[in-house]
Amino acid sequence: MTKRRLDDLGIFGGKPEFQEPVHVGQLNLPPWERFEEAFRGIFARRYFTNHGPLVRELDRRLAEYLGVRNVVCVTNGTVALMVACKAMDLHGEVIVPSFTFPATVQALSWAGLTPVFCDIDPQTHNISAALAEPLISPRTSAILGVHVWGRACDPAGLQRLCNARGIRLFFDAAHGLGCEHDGISLATWGDLAIYSFHATKVFSSAEGGCLATDDDRLAERVRTVRNFHVAETFDRVPLRINGKMTEAQAAMGLLSLENLDHWIRRNVELYRRYAEWDVKESVGAFVDYAGSQRSNHQYCIFDVDPARLGISRNQLLAVMRAENVLARRYFYPGVHRLTPYNLLFPDADLSLPATIAISERLLQLPLGDGIDLGTVDRITAIMEICYRHAGELRVRMEPTIQQ
Ligand SMILES: Cc1ncc(COP(=O)(O)O)c(C=O)c1O
Repeated sequence: MTKRRLDDLGIFGGKPEFQEPVHVGQLNLPPWERFEEAFRGIFARRYFTNHGPLVRELDRRLAEYLGVRNVVCVTNGTVALMVACKAMDLHGEVIVPSFTFPATVQALSWAGLTPVFCDIDPQTHNISAALAEPLISPRTSAILGVHVWGRACDPAGLQRLCNARGIRLFFDAAHGLGCEHDGISLATWGDLAIYSFHATKVFSSAEGGCLATDDDRLAERVRTVRNFHVAETFDRVPLRINGKMTEAQAAMGLLSLENLDHWIRRNVELYRRYAEWDVKESVGAFVDYAGSQRSNHQYCIFDVDPARLGISRNQLLAVMRAENVLARRYFYPGVHRLTPYNLLFPDADLSLPATIAISERLLQLPLGDGIDLGTVDRITAIMEICYRHAGELRVRMEPTIQQ
């Protein structure tokens, strides 16, 4: 039965809308038979790791898909970032947004680099050349841009800036497989781009990731850094790590690639349904980050402005959780507020006003193959109750979740 009144809400004792938790991540599954067939092959070959046939095929197929000369698959997106830093031989400071997943910044620290936090444009949720330029110092060796939600972070402007100042540019495109900017794959901007194939992403190898680059020499260095295999020492690199993707991961990745178009179409359908509701009700919270660019629509983001919706993001989150909708504050808080960065840079808040404001407003809602249009309608019905009865809801909610 559709909920209509405040008393129907789980937070006020009503039965939760969903019996099972509805996750925000994609958790897209390939057909079981295809998975079984792929694993039989791995068992028959007794070839589990060390650049096996499936990993090599995934490297090749992804390079084709991304329109780039080289793809090197690795264990996960975090390792891809660490490998990138060593392959590019970075040193000193790297300019990076605080509005990102902690892995972006932590990988820099693992590579012995100092992050310099850049604020974001509140419209795009991304850094830009204009915001990064004042942060360049004699110690800066690179800018690491993040294509948040798969929306490009001013790649042309950042490239011009880095060329002019003689520093390197690379991108965290963890969200961006299947996304383009002005008709060009995100993989081709900068010196290289990394992707994440985590289970929650639209394209998944359970855990996994890759580095993509048009620079053949850099690709050789990446291949050298990501393993200790004696026969694969192509180049002098400062440090190496075991970041090899396994055959099991590659099997999942290849099956994901077969289904990727279907999953993106599905996301588009669900994403539009949320947007239609938002427009119909004049809520004005839905973030159309894709615009006219090709996007994988991996995320459904609502910008909860209390002045418009009537309640805060955290209040809406509490309502959703009580209905078993596991909405997430993505990204919250800014990485600069997390340890160790809050201790290293205690005054960072002062230079990151947009990061703080945006991280307090955004809510990520479920998408992916695990849900259908009916699920979206049930979630927006919950939002509608909040929107229509915001004043009373605010009064009745626990004082602890007023903000
Ligand atoms: C922006 C960003 N960068 C890096 C990562 C790390 O990727 P992984 O989980 O594959 O290590 C993530 C993971 O979600 C991410 O969102």
